Amino acid sequence: MVKLIVAIASNRAIGKDNDLIWHLPADMCFFTETTKGNIVIMGRRNWNSIPDKYRPLSDRLNVVVSRDTSFTDEGCVAYNTIEEAISAYKNDPRDTYIIGGGQIYKYALDHDLIDQMYITKIDASFDADTFFPEFDESGWTSEMIMDHPTDEKNPHSFKVWKYTKK
Ligand SMILES: NC(=O)c1ccc[n+]([C@@H]2O[C@H](COP(=O)([O-])OP(=O)(O)OC[C@H]3O[C@@H](n4cnc5c(N)ncnc54)[C@H](OP(=O)(O)O)[C@@H]3O)[C@@H](O)[C@H]2O)c1
Repeated sequence: MVKLIVAIASNRAIGKDNDLIWHLPADMCFFTETTKGNIVIMGRRNWNSIPDKYRPLSDRLNVVVSRDTSFTDEGCVAYNTIEEAISAYKNDPRDTYIIGGGQIYKYALDHDLIDQMYITKIDASFDADTFFPEFDESGWTSEMIMDHPTDEKNPHSFKVWKYTKK
């Protein structure tokens, strides 16, 4: 099954200056626990944005897509198309997670490559240069699986929604 995981602000913002915008440890923990032991596919810019001490993402097979046929990097497997990256693991017992960024999310949704999504919706808007694409919600069932209040470590409240393709 191909899944997508993302955290979006109420204005659909997901990033700025090739970095994350907010610091929400509880959501980062959800991301890590959900993706651990699985395959994560990301765009080359997202890969580059991960700080050295967290890259590659631990306990996950890190897969990077780039149109640059000479791209290689330590700690990741590279493919030139998103379809190739997905199909390389289609018989793998692990789940495949599309983990962004903006270009990769848009391509995957526009080309109907996703079966399930975990979308963290943060109750705040942010200045950004990268956004999560609009998608037709009528094609998905959704349920809220987490409702996290603001607390001393998490300056914004958020809810996690699980979307499953109808
Ligand atoms: N809030 C969240 O949950 C979340 C999650 C992930 C990332 N982000 C944020 O998103 C931003 C990065 O997103 P982005 O849109 O700038 O970049 P991106 O999607 O991470 O990566 C774009 C790169 O991927 C490659 N690429 C794109 N489409 C491709 C295709 N169809 N086939 C093969 N390769 C393809 C290209 O690499 P080459 O240039 O090498 O060809 C392109 O430059 C950052 O700010 C990051 O912090 C947020």
